[in-house]
Amino acid sequence: MSKKLKVAVVGCGGIANGKHLPSLSRLKDTVELVAFCDIIVERAEKAKEQYGAEGAKVYEDYKELLKDSSIDVVHVCTPNDSHAPITIAALEADKHVMCEKPMAKTAADARAMLEAAKRTGKKLTIGYNNRFRPDSQHLKKVAESGRLGEVYFAKAHAIRRRAVPTWGVFLDEEKQGGGPLIDIGTHALDLALWTMNNYKPKAVLGSVYHKLSHKENAANAFGSWDPKEFTVEDSAFGMITFENGATVVLESSWALNTLDVKEAKVTLCGTEGGADMEDGLRLNGEEFSRLWETKVDTGAGGVAFYSGSAETDPQLEARLWIEAILNDTDPVVLPEQALVVSEILEAIYESAKTGKTVYLNN
Ligand SMILES: NC(=O)c1ccc[n+]([C@@H]2O[C@H](COP(=O)([O-])OP(=O)(O)OC[C@H]3O[C@@H](n4cnc5c(N)ncnc54)[C@H](O)[C@@H]3O)[C@@H](O)[C@H]2O)c1
Repeated sequence: MSKKLKVAVVGCGGIANGKHLPSLSRLKDTVELVAFCDIIVERAEKAKEQYGAEGAKVYEDYKELLKDSSIDVVHVCTPNDSHAPITIAALEADKHVMCEKPMAKTAADARAMLEAAKRTGKKLTIGYNNRFRPDSQHLKKVAESGRLGEVYFAKAHAIRRRAVPTWGVFLDEEKQGGGPLIDIGTHALDLALWTMNNYKPKAVLGSVYHKLSHKENAANAFGSWDPKEFTVEDSAFGMITFENGATVVLESSWALNTLDVKEAKVTLCGTEGGADMEDGLRLNGEEFSRLWETKVDTGAGGVAFYSGSAETDPQLEARLWIEAILNDTDPVVLPEQALVVSEILEAIYESAKTGKTVYLNN
């Protein structure tokens, strides 16, 4: 691997600074951060100062950035409604693209992104970073090995008690396309489909609630929300059945009166065994007429006071993505898979509106 990829970041806000920039900047042998874009240009300037290679450039308009033919890769870290236009323009400008989750605001936009990737032959991946956690990685291996048998029931958990994101545009229906379902339900559903390896949904029934969003001075991890701004749902639930008869129950909330808080986790139930992410990764089954359960140590088993591993999940996500480009292999998160997640989320919203089951054609 001799070539260094020239990487640009569009949208220099929370996730760019929290995940993409620190992870990419570690890949000193393979990545150079050469361009930064934000409509709030000071954010792009700040990111350039902290992470930019020598001569790195700052842009206010992503279309100008895309004119630079030396850029190989673009990371799209903007609100959901701009994922599709920026990603499609970047693919058409001959760049590989990592776009943040969810793939897009609508399934039609996500489909257009996939088509653009196919048309241009460039790589496209979506930032479903929870796949790169040690528990998720291990569960994927367990499920692939067949030890769970046929997984016919799963739960996708995205439940917060009171953690409504009050910064940026998360409460804005127009910009984001929805609330907790499209924001965090998307991660849990992605984990469920990926670990089950089931991308053939058949029917979707959903319900969506705006039950707590009107409350003034609400307790909230990120500070009280403004009820006038909170136009998206505060919780949403879905039941998805699949062509092979499997069922997934998806539960998502930013604010719900519950003590059963679980986020970006799955529970899988198969004919030979089960798994959940309660307190790490647990497996369960039956043997010699007895039930068993076991806890998988997903740490490195290192020093007693330090359980860290050499690479965090965002770092692994970034490294494998860059290697997929350099080695011309598939990225871990395929756009085809992310599209199915978006189709199901949209079907939950539609079903909640109409009160009817939505049938998906594959
Ligand atoms: N993978 C994860 O777990 C995770 C976590 C948080 C956010 N996200 C996703 O990342 C995206 C951004 O979220 P965030 O928390 O960083 O939001 P944010 O508001 O902190 O940052 C978004 C940035 O994009 C900029 N921007 C908006 N439109 C732009 C445009 N057209 N061109 C250039 N810049 C533009 C904004 O000025 C802002 O600085 C969302 O899609 C969100 O779903 C993913």
